Amino acid sequence: MTEILAPSLDNIQRISEVLKSGEIAGIPTETVYGLAADAWNEKAISKIYNAKERPSFDPLIIHLGFQQVSPHQEPLKTMHEKLHLIDLDLIPEANRIWIEFLIKSFWPGPLTFILPKSDHLSSIVTGGLKTVGLRMPAHPITQGLLNQSQLQLAAPSANRFGKISPTRAIDVKKELNGKVKFILNGGQCQKGLESTVIDCTQANQVTILRPGAVSKNILQKTLEPYKSVSVSTAIELSGKNEIQSPGQLSSHYAPRQRCILLEGPLEEVLKQESFEVSFSKLKGQVAVLFAKAPSASLTERLNQYESIEIFYRILSEEGNSDEAAHQLFSHLREIDESSAKIVYMEPWPSSEGLGHAISDRIRRACAPRETF
Ligand code: TXA
Ligand code: MG
Repeated sequence: MTEILAPSLDNIQRISEVLKSGEIAGIPTETVYGLAADAWNEKAISKIYNAKERPSFDPLIIHLGFQQVSPHQEPLKTMHEKLHLIDLDLIPEANRIWIEFLIKSFWPGPLTFILPKSDHLSSIVTGGLKTVGLRMPAHPITQGLLNQSQLQLAAPSANRFGKISPTRAIDVKKELNGKVKFILNGGQCQKGLESTVIDCTQANQVTILRPGAVSKNILQKTLEPYKSVSVSTAIELSGKNEIQSPGQLSSHYAPRQRCILLEGPLEEVLKQESFEVSFSKLKGQVAVLFAKAPSASLTERLNQYESIEIFYRILSEEGNSDEAAHQLFSHLREIDESSAKIVYMEPWPSSEGLGHAISDRIRRACAPRETF
């Protein structure tokens, strides 16, 4: 059985002991819940891969406490000399100043840095790669846990591989019931989407491997004082449609049903005769993820299909992207749990800022499924 623990000081202490003894635990962060283990304990790390049914080539992010690395005092040096997580000598000289500036600007927060890994760190954590992902989560409960235990915690999102990332303690329990003893409850995750992952191993180049709350625009603005640094997404750099980095499979975050990404708002798409004909032939429960509140005329129209019962969720009534990000995964999960056999998703109307990350997750939920 899996127990959800209230976020008291006693329970933080208890989870700290659990993790120190080489066990795994579910922990809250401001992005999504993580499944944590001591980053320096290979046996504990392998328990994460087993519980998640995650392929061993998919690297984990290591989470750090504020009292372990001060973002304001030479964080790279601390991560190299004191924590032995990275190899500072392999970071291009020109990068150090702006990487530290980004750390100062965004930690604690939803920005993960990919940096050259130290030889001390087990390559089991990094899926065999020579780089490591590092971030300082902003959730106060997990900061408390990191600082009190003095552990560095490897933690992927606490879902089974390819499934929807959990944004509530109960979601972790549903995903991993019996596979993890304890989940520390930190409420619903404030951001709701996973951190932005940036590769900082190339000279004066920031490459966004996974879009998140810290958008390309924000990164570019922050890096304005460093004129020689460019910020690009991996897709822009590779010229390909899909990201090729580990863990960035096109299918991800997916409900169990067949998911179809609409070309535009449902109201518009229903005007196409071919779509309308196939839609009208559906039977039973049909799930719709609306970007914004549907209009009265659309609701009325949908009610006219007698053989269809619409199960719907709205990302944000007013089209607010913070709210949409916050809700996306819990809505997808409720759709997953509904009896609908097919899911239609409206595209998010903006691909700017956070809209880019929301669109990315919706597109992946609707991508063809990949298996191993
Ligand atoms: O917000 C988050 O980042 C959450 C919370 C729990 O912190 N964690 C999370 O972890 O989303 P995970 O394992 O589900 O996703 C980590 C992503 C994967 O796409 C992985 O491939 C990438 O980060 N990643 C980690 N280390 C990497 C590395 N060394 N090189 C390239 N990509 C890496
Ligand atoms: Mg994940």
